[in-house]
Amino acid sequence: MTAQLIDGNALSRQLRADVATRVQTLKARGVTPGLAVILVGDNPASQVYVRNKVKACEDTGMHSVLETWPATMGEAELLARVEAMNNDPTIHGILVQLPLPAHIDAQKVIEAISPTKDVDGFHVASAGALMTGLPGFWPCTPHGCMKMLEHIGYDLRGKHAVVIGRSNIVGKPMALMLLQANATVTVCHSGTRDLGAITRQADVVVAAVGKRNVLTADMVKPGAVVIDVGMNRNDAGKLCGDVDFDGVKEVAGWITPVPGGVGPMTITMLMVNTLDSAERQAS
Ligand code: GUN
Repeated sequence: MTAQLIDGNALSRQLRADVATRVQTLKARGVTPGLAVILVGDNPASQVYVRNKVKACEDTGMHSVLETWPATMGEAELLARVEAMNNDPTIHGILVQLPLPAHIDAQKVIEAISPTKDVDGFHVASAGALMTGLPGFWPCTPHGCMKMLEHIGYDLRGKHAVVIGRSNIVGKPMALMLLQANATVTVCHSGTRDLGAITRQADVVVAAVGKRNVLTADMVKPGAVVIDVGMNRNDAGKLCGDVDFDGVKEVAGWITPVPGGVGPMTITMLMVNTLDSAERQAS
């Protein structure tokens, strides 16, 4: 193995310890940061995610409210719950777990969250703030990737960063964050021709597609930083990313593992966003 590992668990522990300290400082001023998590339906993966989010709140000393609703919940009912959280002064962040059942318009629900409590960073106001470089909540997964690059002391200025994937949650905001750090950014997607020809030019590759082996060793420039956002299962049912880790680790300079890479960082950045929100509202 030539690549150095970027350990998301270790970095998360460090960042969550900082969060816990800041939470205590805020509590001493009479404010406990609070996160509301709303889950609709019984998607097993979503159940695990929300449990981990609530546990992270407990671990860092934050207040959390978990509401679970049946998949039959109506859209108007959900919008009313969001509105109630918007008006609840003990809540500084609101997260509606996605995906939502098909009869609910997810975008409408996201837009109902007050931008001041949009700790997922999915509201159009948050997206616009990121796009224009104004202050606002950054989506947690790409923000976590930026923290990992910062942690290894990687200077993005003038580097070629290639993002594979163009989702609103990861690919697009990732590209904007890299651009803001003065990288030269290329966004690739399912319609990209000869992906390898592009990734081989990259100093940094972020793979966020949701498909195994999207990035293989022959597609990576020696020494490149490879960040794997994917969460997939291999044929044996084992958790794996979008990157062929065993192959790519022999070529890359840095690589994030799956599990233990970007995954824990996403929840950590949710804690950071919730705390930032509470600090902002307390000041
Ligand atoms: N579903 C998968 N990832 C996420 C996330 O980061 N936030 C929300 N709200 N739902 C998700």
